[in-house]
Amino acid sequence: MLDLLITNACLPDGRTGMSVAVQGGRIRELTPGLRAPAHETVDAGGFLLAPHFCDPHFHLDATLSHGLPRVNESGTLLEGIALWGELKPLLTAEALIERALAYCDWAVARGLLAIRSHVDTSDPSLLPVRAMLEVKKRVAPWLDLQLVAFPQDGVLRTPGGLDNLKRALDLGVDVVGGIPHFERTMAQGAASVKLLCELAAERGLPVDMHCDESDDPLSRHIETLACEAQRLGLQGRVTGSHCTSMHSMDNYYVSKLLPLIAEGGVSVVANPLINITLQGRHDSYPKRRGLTRVPELLAAGVTVAFGHDCVLDPWYGLGSGDMLEVAHMGLHVAQMTSRQGIRDCFEAVTTRAAQVMGLQGYGLAPGCDASFVLLQARDVVDAIRLRAARLKVWKSGRLLAETAPVLPRLQLPGRPPQVDFLAPGRR
Ligand code: FE2
Repeated sequence: MLDLLITNACLPDGRTGMSVAVQGGRIRELTPGLRAPAHETVDAGGFLLAPHFCDPHFHLDATLSHGLPRVNESGTLLEGIALWGELKPLLTAEALIERALAYCDWAVARGLLAIRSHVDTSDPSLLPVRAMLEVKKRVAPWLDLQLVAFPQDGVLRTPGGLDNLKRALDLGVDVVGGIPHFERTMAQGAASVKLLCELAAERGLPVDMHCDESDDPLSRHIETLACEAQRLGLQGRVTGSHCTSMHSMDNYYVSKLLPLIAEGGVSVVANPLINITLQGRHDSYPKRRGLTRVPELLAAGVTVAFGHDCVLDPWYGLGSGDMLEVAHMGLHVAQMTSRQGIRDCFEAVTTRAAQVMGLQGYGLAPGCDASFVLLQARDVVDAIRLRAARLKVWKSGRLLAETAPVLPRLQLPGRPPQVDFLAPGRR
């Protein structure tokens, strides 16, 4: 007897009429039209069953703090960092934990069951680190939370910055972070990349750095990151986040850089909602978009994923944990409007994000963890177009969240009583 049988589902790869058999929290079988006795059978109604969303770049310690102690008036990255600095002395472990748990509830309701969160290690008290480790423990049964030791104020620029970061790792933080473009000079930025990669190699940890989050085309720390990944044999374990300066780089230089990133096995995480908002703030017109070169990186064989980065915090006053909103913005800003481009955007918040995070047992295949989301859409195009409702969210075969289908009622003479946003013929 199966624990769960889901019938009549579409899959992101285009297969239809699929049944998914679940036993012991894992997918036992995935075939068309399977009928078998199960404790629970769910008719997917021809809707899209996708592996759960993953956010490979977030700041859970800052989330839901928007307006504390004031809002970011200029909308720039640098005012956001200054504002976070004003907020830090006012933080308490209780408030941090409460806000992070509230965000994790939103995430689960949105089918987002894996988050890689940077956590600020700049303060010697490591208050945010301890609070996020507590959150990680509490949400572990339903949400896979990875923590990155993130020296927000610069690992070299902050007195004791390296020591604080190492202590955060000692406490159990999973990934080595960095912020080379915020160090005092380009040379110190490059030095920080080198020493943090060496630290990661020594400890056998992955690396995920905020890298070149600026419009300065000469911010080239991604080059050093790729080179260090290759030199230290860290291929497949290193991520460069943001990489917005690449948007403004010279094309010739980028033609050399892309193969270097691929050779270093470095993944890139773009954060479309935040990059389009924070970058180009010093431009008049035309204003640069700031998003890194997503289609070109993909074409070079680099794993590219999209992160949410911020929700209601000093940098961004919007957001709700919806990775389809992230994919939607990425698709527009990177002009990835072809069918393949749209599929790539969906993968950037599912399979490729899972790859960046190194998740084991992720995906829709026999043996994989039975953690998935049923969307009110027929395919990935509709999923992104509609930011489709998450009808059901399962973690290891256990139902975690449900949302009623979105079917607004109309009161118009001579028109149907209900609006269904699926294209005619696909309802
Ligand atoms: Fe970030």
